Amino acid sequence: PKKNIFDITLKRVTLAPDGFTRSLATINGQYPGPTIEVKKGDRIVINVRNELGEPTSIHSHGMFQRGTPWFDGVAGQSQCLIPDNYAFTYDFTVPDQAGTYWYHSHAMTQYVDGVVGALIIHDPDDPYLNEYDEEIIVMLTDYHHTESEILLKKFLTPSSGGDETHGVNLNSCLVPDNGLINGKNNFDCSKAPHGSKCVDNSGLAKFEFVSNKRYRLRIINTSAFSAFFFSIDKHEMEVIEVEGSYTKRNKIHRLPINVAQRYSVIVTANQPVDNYIMRSEFQKTCMPDDAKKLSIVKAIVHYDGAPEDSAPKDVPWKDFLEECIDLKHETLQPLCEENLPKATKKMELTITFHNDSSGVVRAFLNESSYEPDIKFPTLSRIFAGKANNFPRDRNAYIFDTPGEVVDITFINTDEGDHPFHMHGHQFWVLGFGNGTHVDKKSLNTVNPIKRDTSTIPASGWTVLRFVPDNPGVFGIHCHMIC
Ligand code: C2O
Repeated sequence: PKKNIFDITLKRVTLAPDGFTRSLATINGQYPGPTIEVKKGDRIVINVRNELGEPTSIHSHGMFQRGTPWFDGVAGQSQCLIPDNYAFTYDFTVPDQAGTYWYHSHAMTQYVDGVVGALIIHDPDDPYLNEYDEEIIVMLTDYHHTESEILLKKFLTPSSGGDETHGVNLNSCLVPDNGLINGKNNFDCSKAPHGSKCVDNSGLAKFEFVSNKRYRLRIINTSAFSAFFFSIDKHEMEVIEVEGSYTKRNKIHRLPINVAQRYSVIVTANQPVDNYIMRSEFQKTCMPDDAKKLSIVKAIVHYDGAPEDSAPKDVPWKDFLEECIDLKHETLQPLCEENLPKATKKMELTITFHNDSSGVVRAFLNESSYEPDIKFPTLSRIFAGKANNFPRDRNAYIFDTPGEVVDITFINTDEGDHPFHMHGHQFWVLGFGNGTHVDKKSLNTVNPIKRDTSTIPASGWTVLRFVPDNPGVFGIHCHMIC
């Protein structure tokens, strides 16, 4: 396989993506980091040099790591932390995957402070190859002005008179200061604390369109917490890819996208030459009240020939259309249908939030809350022959391979959605619904979509099916960082 080498240095740099100056944990001094781009079948070598002043690890989100589970990059699971001032090399091939992925720090809450980048696997056999002219990467994120370590500390402080059943200190952590598109947005500096360095109107991201060209937008939500509705005024989008799976063309106006999810959509520059607003709207249903005033994150789509500095008209789809079509899970169909194997094993995982013994609100899966073992990662345990004596709080499940097909039913008792990601695999999303009772008849075992990050709805359930055919230790977790 062709070898592609990426040298990345992680270091702290003072930047002002939205005009507000803060220290960010960057990759090669950039935020977001450089894009890792290869072809299906290639070998990826990532030389990481850690100059962050704290330990780190790098996870390539969505990569199966078949045969190289030790390069999955999860500190405490598949490797020890990379200490400050050390280097570490990830080295894996991508024989059977193509699509839109990302890479990010998988140590503590570091990715929220900036260690993120897009990871694109091009596909020479892409069935849509002739249906777009150019590719554009669009990274959406919520954005905090405070270091994630401070936010997390607040979040994990025993609550003072909070609500027992849900994450307390919600406001400290779950309400971002802003949102960004490709690392840019404006910020109203009158909201910044006194004494901070901040400039208004630092500028929006700008995407160049040429009339009648067709663009494949690869949209990646790298948020800590926020789901978005993504759209471009007056332009329809056609979904063609979900996290490495091609889909039938699916025409929509707005794309709901949760944390860590990715989609490719084709957008044709078929509108009059002008400037248009690209928008990423916070989904606010489960946010605390003071988050409701968060404004829509915007970028500019500039047609070649349109004035450079005129403000685009505000024409959100939902305001002028009788039926604004949002992407619905039910209409998302794989381009090629597969024969689904029958489940040989069923498990149920219940998500709850409550105080632990020290009064800190934590998330639990079946009453166990995971803590990584930084000194003795799970994979090392297995190599040491200690596969079966996991402490209860490690929440580990052991599958025999080959042959097993596993259905996981998630029951979410929390009043917020939870985007769950599985490492090393994709899963079929058989269905979801409200309440705690799974409606078995509603499950789709004919042509369900296959992906690696799926939403478990608030006070609801989801059934996922996967084939554990990739030996190694792989996490499955909610991707909300706090
Ligand atoms: Cu995006 Cu455990 O990862």
